[in-house]
This record gives sequence, structure tokens and C-alpha cells, in this order.
Amino acid sequence: MSYRILICYHTASGNTGWVTGQIARQLGELGAEVFMQNIACQQDAPAVDTFDAVGFGCPVMGFRPTFAMTDVIEKLPVQHGKPAFIFVSYAAVCASSLWMLAAMLSRKGYRVIAAERFRGELSWPVARLTGIIASKGRPDERDLSKITTFSRNIYAGLKSHREQGSGTFRRVPFAFFNPLSYMALLNKAAYLRFIMGKKRVDQSRCTRCGLCQKQCAASAISLNPYPQFNESCIGCWGCYNICPEKAISTFLGPRWGYAARAHYLDASPAHEQKP
Ligand SMILES: Cc1cc2nc3c(=O)[nH]c(=O)nc-3n(C[C@H](O)[C@H](O)[C@H](O)COP(=O)(O)O)c2cc1C
Ligand code: SF4
Ligand code: SF4
Repeated sequence: MSYRILICYHTASGNTGWVTGQIARQLGELGAEVFMQNIACQQDAPAVDTFDAVGFGCPVMGFRPTFAMTDVIEKLPVQHGKPAFIFVSYAAVCASSLWMLAAMLSRKGYRVIAAERFRGELSWPVARLTGIIASKGRPDERDLSKITTFSRNIYAGLKSHREQGSGTFRRVPFAFFNPLSYMALLNKAAYLRFIMGKKRVDQSRCTRCGLCQKQCAASAISLNPYPQFNESCIGCWGCYNICPEKAISTFLGPRWGYAARAHYLDASPAHEQKP
């Protein structure tokens, strides 16, 4: 008995990409046929109908799932009980991010069968500047057993969904006592863009390689001939962090960037997935 699974993911600096690749690999080893859609590179709404289940993974930014991911979910067609699983990577404060994803998917007619969060190294340069750097090196092999358990739960949930017609529904509670859960509800992409500040490109460094444009999940960058940024930017710092030439700066110079795992932006299991 095999399952066709789509994992739709957003990764601004590679942490979620690494987790996604590992989940895909583990589900593949359990016998599933797994496809991945990096929402930055394939921005059409995912064609979910041919899949038995859909996974959604993204970083936590501003105490909530990234706007790039929630925008994709908003555009999905309504389903009738299709199984879904959700995961986020976060540095320290997940707040109610999983609840937000679960609530959105439930409104879209999905049945969330598994949810998990994974620690990632802090990719927000402003906090790195102040020395609050959590979980250095994560995600890495320390997270593999959690990923294995998560993948097995997904597979078991799919099995019971197919055999009994209804898989176990995974309740994701709202963190009522965490004030950041409420801040997350008030957050807007424009605030994160504002906090990031005006982006500048050092033309003497930029090679016009196009990586920032390709990996911007908000379609906010055009090469003209150097990167130019528009108002759809969600302030994820992805371009700043991943530019191999360190050509992008804001009010912060490029040296404060997170050493993004650019090789994990493509989460394909065929891709090398060493931590
Ligand atoms: C603008 C911005 C805001 C962030 N906000 C949060 C947050 O609210 N809580 C948290 O735990 N981590 C936060 N982070 C850290 C990321 O969630 C974490 O580094 C994640 O692993 C990045 O995933 P990626 O490498 O797939 O982009 C933030 C990072 C950025 C760039
Ligand atoms: S990733 Fe860096 S070098 Fe490449 S186009 Fe963007 S700014 Fe220029
Ligand atoms: S332009 Fe904005 S949304 Fe796009 S990668 Fe850069 S910070 Fe993220």
C-alpha cells in the first residue's frame, strides 16, 4: 500500500529545507512516493488533488508561520477531509504557529494528522547582532529521531485514514497564556518588511547570479540588471542571508548575516542531505 505525498515548503535560509528533505527521505523509506514543492521556485498553487496527503513546512517569523506559506494556503482549493501534516522550524519562540497553520488548513477542509516543530539556528540578523543565538548548528542529526517519530506518525495517520475512513485528528492547541500568540495574530508582512529596513545592493559585489530572485518566496525581487525589491517583500531576510557574495545590506552591513544553508534550499532527497 503506497501513498502519494506532496510536501509544500518554504525555507528562507535552509533550515526548514533540511528538515523537509529528511522527512521526505523517511517517508520514502516507509514506502511513500514523495514530491516536494519549494514555494519560492514553483509559485503556482500546488496541485493537491492527485495526492493522498499534503505536508506544509515553513519557518516561524514574527511568532507565526511565514506569510509566504500562509499566502499559499489561502489560495488552495477547498478539500473534504484530505489528510495534512504541518511542521515549522523555529529558533526559540514558536508561540501558536502550528495552531495558526492547523486552523487555516482546517478552514480549507484539511484534516491535520500530525504536527511538529523543530529547532533551527536563529536566522534573524537583528537578534544575532545582540548575541541571542540559540541552538547553534540546528537542525542537525540531533533532530533525526524526532523526524523519524514524526514521519512514522504521518504514515500511521495515513494508514488509519485509508483503512478506517478517518485518521486520527491531531489537535493543535492555541497557546492562550503566551502573549506572543496574540502579537502573531496582529502581525503583518508590512511590519516585518519595515523592521528589515531598506535593502541595498552593493553593485561592486553582486554578480547578478539570480539566486536571491529565485529563492524569494514573495516574488519581491527583479534583476534590472541588479536586484530591485518591491512591496511584496515579507521581510524574511532570505536574500540578505543567502547572497553568496554578501552583496545585500540593510541598516545592518552584510557581515551580520546568518551563514545560510544555501545547499538545503533545495530539499530534494536526491540532494545531499548531510547535516
Ligand atoms: C525575520 C525573522 C523573524 C523570526 N522570528 C522568529 C520567531 O518569532 N520565533 C522564532 O523562534 N524564530 C524566529 N526566527 C528564526 C527562524 O524561525 C529560524 O531561524 C528558522 O529555522 C529559519 O528557517 P529557514 O532557514 O528555513 O528559513 C525568525 C527569523 C527571521 C529571519
Ligand atoms: S544573490 Fe547576491 S550576487 Fe546573486 S544576484 Fe542576488 S545580490 Fe547579486
Ligand atoms: S526580498 Fe524580502 S521576501 Fe524576498 S527574500 Fe528578500 S527579504 Fe525575503
